[in-house]
Amino acid sequence: MISKKISSIIQSRKSIYPNEFNGKIIEEDIIIQLLENANYAPTHKMTQPWIFKIFCNNSKKILLDEIIRNNEFSENKKKKLENSFNKSSHIICICMKKHKNLLPEWEEIAATAMAVQNLWISCVDSNIGGYWSTPKYINKLRTFLKLNNDEICLGFFYLGVHNSKKIKKIKRDNIFDKIQWFR
Ligand SMILES: Cc1cc2nc3c(=O)[nH]c(=O)nc-3n(C[C@H](O)[C@H](O)[C@H](O)COP(=O)(O)O)c2cc1C
Repeated sequence: MISKKISSIIQSRKSIYPNEFNGKIIEEDIIIQLLENANYAPTHKMTQPWIFKIFCNNSKKILLDEIIRNNEFSENKKKKLENSFNKSSHIICICMKKHKNLLPEWEEIAATAMAVQNLWISCVDSNIGGYWSTPKYINKLRTFLKLNNDEICLGFFYLGVHNSKKIKKIKRDNIFDKIQWFR
């Protein structure tokens, strides 16, 4: 039997968007606990390709300024982004180091996504939430993020504190529509 507890945790994970955050700051040791769990993702050849670049307080403002400076956003879009940054406690840039002589890129993207999933699941049953954002403008941040040629950014993980227990889970398609048995 699969543990009901683990099924419940997995099925309770959800995206919590910055408009639900209350602006409170998450303690650094909790951020480290989330990242420790991320670090337990599996990897082929144990390349452990994930790199997390963490922005908070002033560095979060500097990141926001950099994004705004390099993009022609409408006033509305700018305001929305400022609001997301202000309400978030930490913004984690999900980065990845490729090992192209060892593995195809997709395997390392998969491993990094599993690390993010670990972090995301670790937020279940707490008042910490977040979501993975993949805006196009991350490609303009390579220099700012000090990425080497063999490194890429796979998006931002917005993290914040929220009060709401009512945030709805998005329904999934029926798994039976996605199963083909060969027996
Ligand atoms: C790789 C990845 C990229 C995502 N990028 C975005 C994004 O750019 N904007 C967004 O609103 N949600 C993004 N999401 C969140 C999904 O929209 C969200 O996970 C989905 O709607 C299911 O909701 P749930 O996480 O609450 O189950 C992303 C999720 C993943 C896994």
